[in-house]
Amino acid sequence: MNTHKIAVIAGDGIGPEVIQEGIKILNEAARLDGGFAFEFTHFPWGCEYYKETGRMMAEDGIDRLREFDAIFLGAVGAPGVPDHISLWDLLLVIRKSFDQYINLRPVKLLRGAPTPLKDVPAEEIDMVFVRENTEGEYAGSGSWLYKGKPNEVVIQNGVFSRVGCERVIRYAYELAKEQKKSLTSISKANALNYSMVFWDQIFEEVGREFPEVETHSYLVDAASMFMVKDPGRFEIVVTSNLFGDILTDLGAAIAGGMGLAAGANLNPERKFPSMFEPIHGSAPDIAGQGKANPLATVWSASQMLDFFGHPTWGERLLQCIESVLTEKKTLTPDLSGTATTEEVGDAIIEKMREFSRMG
Ligand code: NAD
Ligand code: IPM
Ligand code: MN
Repeated sequence: MNTHKIAVIAGDGIGPEVIQEGIKILNEAARLDGGFAFEFTHFPWGCEYYKETGRMMAEDGIDRLREFDAIFLGAVGAPGVPDHISLWDLLLVIRKSFDQYINLRPVKLLRGAPTPLKDVPAEEIDMVFVRENTEGEYAGSGSWLYKGKPNEVVIQNGVFSRVGCERVIRYAYELAKEQKKSLTSISKANALNYSMVFWDQIFEEVGREFPEVETHSYLVDAASMFMVKDPGRFEIVVTSNLFGDILTDLGAAIAGGMGLAAGANLNPERKFPSMFEPIHGSAPDIAGQGKANPLATVWSASQMLDFFGHPTWGERLLQCIESVLTEKKTLTPDLSGTATTEEVGDAIIEKMREFSRMG
């Protein structure tokens, strides 16, 4: 039996609520398939752990996670713990330590999902963001001089290495080539006169290896506008860490909301575990009320199944999500329904069984 060993970091706020549904669904996929299994190991890390121990994860946390095939993460962040501590010492340290340099975020309007965009055909909202995930604006390079003094100065450097830019851009070209899609690079070389000029140069350089791929290059301000006015322009998109962060929340907004947006943090070489997570946060405003939409987590579970070589199951989960969305019977309040997180999870399981009976 092919057993996938998964480290679960449910985390804070709605994290545990949505992860519970994700696990239930992964186990059901394994049960229905019969050819693979999951073994989940739970780690109690997050803001509660921090309040008790002064650390976001165990001291040897990274070493312990290294042994797993993948990490399934809910969300991190809680009132009372500064966000730059909770996120840097858990989520961001995992992305960096495990060289998860690809953050793959689909922005696709599934059948039945709502979009606020008027006059845009649904099928035009269908893109995949390839976000750089280990350096750039998130490199953590800088300093805080004369803290609290009148001459206080803060410096936050963007770090764009040749290796770091080339590998994410090459990954995006390969994806575009494989899927016969266009590739759009989003940058900002008119203002960021070192980092983004370099990024654009590398986009062109690597592009010479892929003459068959149609390319576009936009400034991030114009790209934001086009994502709303004419999203059909975008197919595969490659961009920096911060721009990718911001644009994928915008992407979530046009493709059904935060409750539907998923992401995979990949180490493509599989030297280290990859991490799968909904892209939303811990949503303290709705935590503990059973209102969280688990569908983003289900989508990230679908990405995990793809990654483990079960693409039929990856696809099947998306069909189940679409089926629940189009029926509109069992949806959480963010999608104008009255169902609980758990009821939506159960509805997905029901669909999985139906699809399996149909063969
Ligand atoms: P958020 O994504 O948690 O919430 C933004 C809005 O979207 C809220 O109104 C929330 O209720 C809604 N929302 C989010 N996920 C939802 C879901 N599954 N179902 C229904 N509604 C949902 O962003 P925020 O409020 O800016 O951040 C809250 C905390 O989460 C902060 O501490 C932040 O640093 C952290 N955060 C963590 C991650 C992560 O762990 N990956 C990502 C983003 C933010
Ligand atoms: C995301 C989140 C994180 C990011 C935060 C919580 C550090 O917003 O995964 O989109 O900016 O990458
Ligand atoms: Mn984000």
